[in-house]
Order: sequence, then structure tokens, then C-alpha cells
Amino acid sequence: MQESSESDTVAYTVEDGIAWVKYNRPEKRNAQSPKLNRRMREVIDALEFRDDVGVLVLTGEGDAFCAGMDLKEYFRETEAQGLVGTRRAQRDAYGWWERLRWYQKPTIAMVNGWCFGGAYGPLFSCDLAFAADEAQFGLSEINWGILPGGGAAKVAAELLPFRKAMYHAMMGENVDGRTAAEWGLVNESHPLAMLKDRVTEVAKVLLGKNPVALKATKDAVRRVREMTYDNAMDYLIRAQEAANFFDNQGRKEGIRQFIDEKSYKPGLGAYDKDRAGSTTSQS
Ligand code: COA
Repeated sequence: MQESSESDTVAYTVEDGIAWVKYNRPEKRNAQSPKLNRRMREVIDALEFRDDVGVLVLTGEGDAFCAGMDLKEYFRETEAQGLVGTRRAQRDAYGWWERLRWYQKPTIAMVNGWCFGGAYGPLFSCDLAFAADEAQFGLSEINWGILPGGGAAKVAAELLPFRKAMYHAMMGENVDGRTAAEWGLVNESHPLAMLKDRVTEVAKVLLGKNPVALKATKDAVRRVREMTYDNAMDYLIRAQEAANFFDNQGRKEGIRQFIDEKSYKPGLGAYDKDRAGSTTSQS
């Protein structure tokens, strides 16, 4: 099969506020090559501040989410160029994962199939993750003789209890989507045929929330993990005040619709952000 051009390694569409971004090397099980990593960075950059994008979903074409790093193009061919080749390839990959970790819009990984090693970076970058029951997750690095680098060991240690992380990393055995959900690698697992519907449902809920509050919330959850309680309290005060700078009407409107208008209950759903008085710009 003909090797895909750089621009074809990623496919995307924007529908009803949701950007569906797909790894698009199904013939290589969506392995992350330098070309794909460069293209992914361009695509997510271009989508980040578009007014018609409120949520980004990352998924894979074909029967793989992503079979990790491309052993030929990412490892063998770049190592042949010496240190500069390796470092350049790492930058291309880690760069877009970091970008996605702190993305302006909420992000969801929709794990439709194989998910190995190097795919754990972007999996963790996404705020939420939903898997197909049929998906297979594995830290396969140990099976071909390296440690779970590229953040993969960190992702396992962040998301899994110690014993499970250690077993997962050392044994090189795969788990299916259901087990991944039980373990906390993903939020939920559903039969593949129902996966997109569930992800769409979740994305629509997110589209109904105040986007400034969402960005502040997702950053806060990631940041406070590494802080003491007091540092977290301080960070959250500053983050709320900074969010008010970008959205000083949304919060007031949320209070008004509950206290004065009694048109919704925050404990049961979100205020109507599209009503007059609310200025909750997405960018
Ligand atoms: N790097 C480079 N090429 C890869 C790849 C990877 N990570 N994963 C799959 N491919 C290639 C195969 O070499 C094959 O190429 P070819 O058609 O030119 O021979 C093609 O994709 C299809 O792979 P194949 O192994 O035939 O598909 P499968 O459906 O039988 O098996 C996997 C799927 C994912 C189980 C298997 O491809 C695999 O084990 N991949 C490696 C997973 C891994 O360890 N990734 C690295 C983590 S850092």
C-alpha cells in the first residue's frame, strides 16, 4: 500500500461544535510517525481557537486508536540520523501531546481499537477518555526491549494504582476497554457500535457549559494534583480571578438564572449560557 502523504496522516471534520480528529494511517495501525506528529500539531493548532469548535475528540481510523510510536519511522530512521534525529522526533511528538494537555477546548479520547505505549501520552493529554469494549490497551515496550518512555510510565503511574501500573508495565499483557475503565485508564467503555453516540452525548453536555469555566476547571484539576492543599487553595483563588477577567458576565448570569429567575438548578444542570447578559466567548 502506498505511504500516505504528510497531510493525509491526520483527518478531521467539524460537526455541530465537535472537531473529530482522526489518526489516519490505518494501514500502519495509526502508529505515530514524525510526519503524523508534525501534521497533528498543525491540525490541533488550527482548530484550537476556531469559534465553531467547542470540543475536540481524538480517535483513529480503522481498527486502531494508535499502535504507539512507529518503530521504523520514529525510532529506527531517526536514530540513524544521530542525536539530532532523535531529539527532533521527540519534540514533534511530545510537542503536540503537551499542547493537547493544556488545550483551550475540552478534549476527549475515543479509543476505538489498539492503544499501545506511545499512545498513552495523547490518551492522558485528553481530559476524558472513552473506550470500545473491544479496544486493547498495552504497554508493549517491554515486549520489544525498551522501557515505557515518552511519558507512558508516568501515565500508568498517574492513572493506575501502584501494583496495577507495575504489572501493566512489566508484563506486556493487554487489557480490553472494560478492564481499562475498571482500572481508571478511561472513564467508560461501551460496545464499539455505541461508542460514538456516547462520546457525542458527552461532548454535547460540554458544549452547553461555560467555556471559560471549562478551561479553568480542566487546568485546575491537572495542576492541583501536584500541589499541597494550601498551594492548591491559593492557585484556585488566582485561577478563578483570572477566569473572571475573560468572562465576567457568565458567572453572574449563572447566579441570576438560579437565584432571581429560578429557571434552573446548578445541582441538576448548567445555566443557559446563550441567553442575553451572558458573554461567554469561546476564544
Ligand atoms: N510501528 C511501525 N509499524 C507498525 C506499528 C508500529 N508501532 N504497528 C503496526 N505497524 C505496521 C506493521 O509493521 C504492518 O506494516 P506492513 O503492512 O508494512 O507489514 C502494518 O502496520 C499492519 O500491522 P500488523 O501487525 O500486520 O497488524 P495486526 O492488526 O495484525 O496487529 C498490532 C496489530 C497493533 C497488534 C501490531 O501491529 C503490533 O503489535 N504493533 C506494534 C505495537 C507496539 O508495540 N507499538 C509500540 C509502542 S511504543
